[in-house]
Amino acid sequence: MGMKDEVHGRSQPGQAEPKVKNKEVVALEDAEAQEEMETNKKRHLNVVFIGHVDAGKSTTGGQILFLSGQVDDRTIQKYEKEAKDKSRESWYMAYVMDTNEEERVKGKTVEVGRAHFETETTRFTILDAPGHKSYVPNMISGASQADIGVLVISARKGEFETGYERGGQTREHVQLAKTLGVAKLLVVVNKMDDPTVNWSKERYDEIESKMTPFLKSSGYNVKKDVQFLPISGLLGSNMKTRVDKSICSWWNGPCLFEALDCIEVPLRDPKGPFRMPILDKFKDMGTVVMGKVESGSVCEGDSLLVMPNKAQVKVVAVYCDENKVRCAGPGENLRVRLSGIEEEDILSGFVLSSVVKPIPAVTEFTAQLQILELLENAIFTAGYKAVLHVHSVVEECEIVELLQQIDPKTRKPMKKKVLFVKNGAVVVCRVQVNNSICVEKFSDFPQLGRFTLRTEGKTIAVGKVTDLPVA
Ligand code: GTP
Ligand code: MG
Repeated sequence: MGMKDEVHGRSQPGQAEPKVKNKEVVALEDAEAQEEMETNKKRHLNVVFIGHVDAGKSTTGGQILFLSGQVDDRTIQKYEKEAKDKSRESWYMAYVMDTNEEERVKGKTVEVGRAHFETETTRFTILDAPGHKSYVPNMISGASQADIGVLVISARKGEFETGYERGGQTREHVQLAKTLGVAKLLVVVNKMDDPTVNWSKERYDEIESKMTPFLKSSGYNVKKDVQFLPISGLLGSNMKTRVDKSICSWWNGPCLFEALDCIEVPLRDPKGPFRMPILDKFKDMGTVVMGKVESGSVCEGDSLLVMPNKAQVKVVAVYCDENKVRCAGPGENLRVRLSGIEEEDILSGFVLSSVVKPIPAVTEFTAQLQILELLENAIFTAGYKAVLHVHSVVEECEIVELLQQIDPKTRKPMKKKVLFVKNGAVVVCRVQVNNSICVEKFSDFPQLGRFTLRTEGKTIAVGKVTDLPVA
């Protein structure tokens, strides 16, 4: 869901590599497995690119791949020609990430693009989310796999303003990212080269000063977890190397690569019970499932359960990025080949889970919700229906009971009985779904216990699972 083929190093336009390599290659790679385990010792970070439509997320992502040597000059020249033929001259860098025809014609990302690059110290997985409001569910799926976010903001006259207005995706993406567990944000003020900006310090300061209170109110600790920097994604300025003083005299801070290199990796426990929400699956010499490990480790030969249907499976092979590995730990994006289950018996949203401590499967749970913005005239009360997004699950749900309202200031439960709430309220309620889903308490596994509720294409609430029925 919401994921297209990965962008691999030096691949030709429109020619995605097979998702899993064929048998011969695998046999060869076995001998190299040891060496690959060594490379995997480099720390790994999942970075989601978020922000309003046309802010320059795909362009910046494409430029990163070009500057880090993942895409060569010839490919870029081809894209330049293709973009010109489509009357989208300035979109050629975005074509590195936007690989679908629809995306290239319209100049808009639809599905989350995925790519890899490395610096001296870190292996990065880039997740390039769409900015258009129609594709927020895809953005949610991208952000839920990320450790950190790069929030791309256009400094071009009028564009920052549109993105930041009510209903602009700059706001919605920040709020979603925070709820979905994106702990840190690099805010890149992009298009600094644009003639309406021309590396103006005033414009940069204006954007930083307007964004800061909003980021604070969305729950980010601006001093510790947020960093601003100016770039031109299109020209590649202040990205791999610091911007030249002749272009921007006032910037004394880091460039994008330096900032990415300095971000601390969140602590993860490789010994926790294994949890990998399944994003996608396909047939290839057995059943292959894709997803990000949220807890624990997995090794070739392990016995696991596919939840919620409790199917016993065996791990035949593990692939990390493009490489076959023996074991992989939390935070990694994997493809896992399984025996003991048919591809048809798996749905995205299922979770590959440890046998000893399987993930709970429930049709009801208690949650604390924060109501963001209800549709006009709507009231939030028992009987309210919405679409629940939790890790890779998308499922219709109903609020069956409002339990208590929380005072947002004191964070304490309010005494009077609550029958309905309005925008901005924090409320504890019981949520029901038709089909069994796998969730955890937020306090145990934050990534598997935080969710969003959406109605008619709008995010109306964010929440966390506070209690599960006793099994
Ligand atoms: P969606 O995927 O639709 O959300 O857009 P996006 O954020 O990925 O934007 P994209 O990279 O497709 O770029 C949109 C337009 O902005 C293109 O015309 C780019 O050439 C232009 N653009 C992106 N970065 C820069 C920049 O640094 N400077 C200038 N001048 N234009 C830029
Ligand atoms: Mg894009």
